[in-house]
Amino acid sequence: MITKLEYTMQNIFQLSNIENECFKRNAWSIPALRGEFENDFSHFFGYVMDDKIVGYTCVRIMYEEAQVCNIAVLPEYQRQGIGSQLVQKLVDFATESGCQVAELEVNTANEKAVGLYLKNGFVVAGVRPNFYRTSTYPTRDAFTMLKQLNQ
Ligand SMILES: CC(C)(COP(=O)(O)OP(=O)(O)OC[C@H]1O[C@@H](n2cnc3c(N)ncnc32)[C@H](O)[C@@H]1OP(=O)(O)O)[C@@H](O)C(=O)NCCC(=O)NCCS
Repeated sequence: MITKLEYTMQNIFQLSNIENECFKRNAWSIPALRGEFENDFSHFFGYVMDDKIVGYTCVRIMYEEAQVCNIAVLPEYQRQGIGSQLVQKLVDFATESGCQVAELEVNTANEKAVGLYLKNGFVVAGVRPNFYRTSTYPTRDAFTMLKQLNQ
């Protein structure tokens, strides 16, 4: 079940665990997660199984544009359609919030994530060389990907 996540320390600790499992040394820290929850533009959604958050996404609603901040699914729950359901949720939420477009950056070498976004209607709009300061991938370049909403 996908649910909107409130700003509680229990949720922060669960998201921190997902971050560490999925992003290792590039994981969002607990202060970074808290800061994002305190951002009025940010909204978090979690995929919950048996009271445990197994995947989450964060989206910033910036007037006509939705910025996808992050998405991650615990490794043992990946490739079961959870990521796609989270993308669909953020797309629906952004559309209901009046956004015209959803935008994100993703490492050009992150095949899983690029595949996820392509499967869910995003298109590559451009490449940002050296977008990431550090990377666990062989490149620091990012694709900018877009999805037009209300279509
Ligand atoms: C990217 C991620 C969120 C996908 O979540 P998921 O629950 O596995 O996604 P889904 O099961 O809905 O898969 C959707 C599509 O993503 C792509 N995909 C997912 N896992 C993949 C893999 N291991 N290899 C290649 N493509 C993959 C495929 O196109 C897949 O569609 P298909 O199963 O019909 O081939 C997950 O792999 C993850 O958490 N990765 C680490 C964190 C990360 O990189 N986040 C993105 C930051 S921008």
